[in-house]
Amino acid sequence: MFKKVLVAIDGSECAERAFEKALEMTPSEVMLTIIHVLQLPPMIGSKKTTEIEPFFRREARLFLVEHSNRAAAKGVKADTILIKGNPAEAILNAATSVTTDLIIIGSRGRGGIKELMLGSVSSAVVQHAKVPVLVVK
Ligand SMILES: Nc1ncnc2c1ncn2[C@@H]1O[C@H](COP(=O)(O)OP(=O)(O)OP(=O)(O)O)[C@@H](O)[C@H]1O
Ligand SMILES: [Mg+2]
Repeated sequence: MFKKVLVAIDGSECAERAFEKALEMTPSEVMLTIIHVLQLPPMIGSKKTTEIEPFFRREARLFLVEHSNRAAAKGVKADTILIKGNPAEAILNAATSVTTDLIIIGSRGRGGIKELMLGSVSSAVVQHAKVPVLVVK
């Protein structure tokens, strides 16, 4: 069975369902890594971005702490990764660096065109991952 599971969350309903599924599927001997990739609002200019980044980082840390607490409450061992950058690349790199054997993601996220089945992050992860990917609708 799976020994290390990686779940990617972006605050969307789909990712929340993916997270719930990850908790359901992760017995106590399995390690769950929860990743959130920080993306700063693109409309903010470069100087302002630097000023505002600590605020977004703090929010993101709290978001991850809340999820790791929820895992702990269900008896699931979890750690967290907060990283800035391209979400698909960061998720794929994290999957390699923590040697995960299952990735769980939502089919859609916070943005994008609702008619599409997969967002750009979920489709890139499915396409390039070296391990099984569970896409939660
Ligand atoms: N910044 C992120 N950090 C962690 N996980 C993410 C992030 N962005 C997306 N994901 C994961 O990928 C899943 C699919 O989101 P995706 O971004 O592909 O769809 P979308 O937002 O609807 O479309 P797009 O981003 O292409 O406009 C999410 O449910 C989540 O599991
Ligand atoms: Mg998205």
